[in-house]
Amino acid sequence: MSLVPYSLARPFLFGLDPETAHELTMESLALVQATPLKWAYCNSFVDDPVTLAGITFPNRIGLAAGLDKNARCIDGLGSLGFGFVEVGTVTPKPQPGNPKPRMFRLPQAKALINRLGFNNDGLDAFVANVKRSTFRGKGRILGLNIGKNATTPIENATSDYLIALEGVYPHADYVTVNISSPNTANLRTLQSDEALDALLGAVAARREELAKKHGRRVPVFVKIAPDLDEAQVAVIAATLKRHGMDGVIATNTTISRDAVKGLPHAEEAGGLSGTPVLEASNRVIRMLRAQLGLRFPIIGVGGVMSGADAVSKLQAGADVVQIYTGLIYRGPDLVNEAARALKRECAVQNA
Ligand SMILES: Cc1cc2nc3c(=O)[nH]c(=O)nc-3n(C[C@H](O)[C@H](O)[C@H](O)COP(=O)(O)O)c2cc1C
Repeated sequence: MSLVPYSLARPFLFGLDPETAHELTMESLALVQATPLKWAYCNSFVDDPVTLAGITFPNRIGLAAGLDKNARCIDGLGSLGFGFVEVGTVTPKPQPGNPKPRMFRLPQAKALINRLGFNNDGLDAFVANVKRSTFRGKGRILGLNIGKNATTPIENATSDYLIALEGVYPHADYVTVNISSPNTANLRTLQSDEALDALLGAVAARREELAKKHGRRVPVFVKIAPDLDEAQVAVIAATLKRHGMDGVIATNTTISRDAVKGLPHAEEAGGLSGTPVLEASNRVIRMLRAQLGLRFPIIGVGGVMSGADAVSKLQAGADVVQIYTGLIYRGPDLVNEAARALKRECAVQNA
């Protein structure tokens, strides 16, 4: 447990506009992460190694993409007890994202809606920040999540992904191809049939070239939405396998509002995360596991607010689990709680 209880910090942070609270937290972490003050928020680490896609994850709980879009706080976030941290989404060029306000809390539902739109400082700044971090040197796993610029026409999306893949490749333990944000126009169309086939074909070919060049084959994961039916998931699963993708991250935020109807902010445009997406994500994980067979790596994410929620992802078929919104509502103690629960569940499953 960290020395600064989140129960004290949360009322202050929740008194601020959500994006301001986020920026303040990230600024503070960036300032203290390389100083002795970091001991004020460090968590103990649950040792529970598991090998997936050729990578040994030191435990089964990771930070989901989007919290640290510019990779500024990898070390600070890493010391909360995560076995793996995913940063980004980064786009080739810097971009401001959508107009503010663009992030909303729905506390009654333990949820957030965001329409940030990949606001980020661009690939060069991102890579410079990644290079400064020491997290990977400690045997922890770093995922780098890539996307396309809003101004790039969707027909040219592949070229953005290839530029970003090339830039992040030497610095990643795995790369995530994010095709499931609802906040970049038409991005999710890349999840369908020919578009997905063309994109993943190009990514796979460039990855082979990069593997030769760098002497290391970096696993590529693809992150998908929860708003997919069984037929769409089946096509995605087949396409992932056909192009030799190494894993799937399920899921991103949802555009559905069924679970939050009538609540303040429920009708804001954007992606809904937190408790209302738990079951929708687990449904997609179950369908993926049925389609992909037992061995294909699945990273489960969406709505984890407790150790029991994390375990529900394993039971649905995930191998490891990520969190984002749970960290906002529960604070850093959730990392340990979830890591311990996952370790216990795996011990039971393997007994
Ligand atoms: C404010 C916010 C920003 C996000 N930005 C990204 C992003 O840039 N890239 C991405 O792949 N996922 C992004 N996500 C999605 C999360 O990584 C995660 O998949 C989703 O929120 C569901 O998990 P959760 O319920 O634990 O938050 C974002 C989520 C939130 C709440």
